[in-house]
Amino acid sequence: MKQSGQLGLFEDIDVAPDGGTAAKRAREGAFSDNMGLQVHRWFRYSAGFSAEWAEGAIGRALPGEGLCVLDPFAGVGTTLLAAEARGTKGTGFEAHPFVFRVARAKLGWNVPVSALHESYQELLRRARKRPAERAQPPSLMQKCFTEESLERLGRLKRVFLEDYNDGTSLGELLWLGITAIVRSCSVAGTAQWQYVLPNKQKANVYDPFDAFVWKMEAFALDIEAVKRAGWTESSAILQHDARVPCEHVEQVDMVITSPPYPNNYDYADATRLEMTFWGEVEGWGDLQAAARQYLVRSCSQHSAAEKLQLDELLRDPVIAAIRGELTRSCRALETLRLVRAGKKTYHTMAAAYFVDMARTLRALRTLCKSGGKMCFVVGDSAPYGVHLAVERWLGELAVDAGFGAYSFEKIRDRNTKWKNRKHRVPLQEGRLWIEG
Ligand SMILES: C[S@@+](CC[C@H](N)C(=O)[O-])C[C@H]1O[C@@H](n2cnc3c(N)ncnc32)[C@H](O)[C@@H]1O
Repeated sequence: MKQSGQLGLFEDIDVAPDGGTAAKRAREGAFSDNMGLQVHRWFRYSAGFSAEWAEGAIGRALPGEGLCVLDPFAGVGTTLLAAEARGTKGTGFEAHPFVFRVARAKLGWNVPVSALHESYQELLRRARKRPAERAQPPSLMQKCFTEESLERLGRLKRVFLEDYNDGTSLGELLWLGITAIVRSCSVAGTAQWQYVLPNKQKANVYDPFDAFVWKMEAFALDIEAVKRAGWTESSAILQHDARVPCEHVEQVDMVITSPPYPNNYDYADATRLEMTFWGEVEGWGDLQAAARQYLVRSCSQHSAAEKLQLDELLRDPVIAAIRGELTRSCRALETLRLVRAGKKTYHTMAAAYFVDMARTLRALRTLCKSGGKMCFVVGDSAPYGVHLAVERWLGELAVDAGFGAYSFEKIRDRNTKWKNRKHRVPLQEGRLWIEG
């Protein structure tokens, strides 16, 4: 896989010199494997982790009946669908409105396949017959699609919004079907991290009407297959902020999750193309209000938009357990930014990230049964070359929040081949295990 210049997360596999066991272990965290798995593959979400690993972890930790797993950063629902495959009860939180909708649509897989066929074919028939409409699309759309593709996607969208946007599982599957073809119909390149690169042209571009048929037929096949395999509707997802205690959820036996890392990945920007397509944002400037404001502060765009004050963040009692080390790193970043291009606000991003994660861990303490277990898939980072010891600091914050011991199981090194890197500590990704 090609190396990205971005601080990596799950897909930039760059370790495994033995090409065997290590390669397999390195891939264990990646969403790319889910693209061969029923239902999981309905929407490509590079920030997601491996469903097979999640299913195995649930099976090993929760072999009994009636046990319950929570994913407080549920993304597109990987853990929750893995729980459904095993008949385990799952609960998820996701705060990004668009990502939440994708997860909820996938969890609504249990519809009659005949009704899905009828609905999508009728929607398509009406979209085909509909006269073209003259509208001035946002500039991102103009850059990413041919006029013909844009016009056909627009017809699918308008017919959906007029007659199928009723919030039912069937309606949400149609929404997901249209949403999931947007990128494959775009001529613009998309980086492995989902950013849109309008100046790069893709080799394979699909016609929207054909792509919609293929997508809906894939949904139908998967639904039949998972029904045969005995999946149950045992999971639920809430549009909820993991940092805030949730009273509507019972205590759980296990938490399996992957939170954002403080690596400047912008979850709001990652969905900009689809959100622009649906008219939820018009441009980059709308992303803070439409999505980013709800999320853990893990990118400098977020800390800059909130105009955060470092002293205030570092005084927050929730980070007391790591205040000394965090303060040294944040002060170093505060000084470094003055001489670095972009003058990015990594200093307030880092402080806000650990404040947010400390709040999350406290909220989880009330939700996780004592004697339960938590597994956080996490990676460290080194903005401007200043190392943030994410796994250790989160472990210490967890102990301070009332959890038991923690240990870290490394899955792989990251960014070892990134030539421009400024830090000396090799970055890693792995599982932070925390005793409940
Ligand atoms: C690394 S991704 C998890 C992906 C997930 N494991 C999957 O396979 O789809 C982290 C997720 O946390 C979400 N998130 C960020 N801040 C949040 C918050 N405060 N509460 C709940 N979810 C949040 C992001 O939108 C993102 O989808």
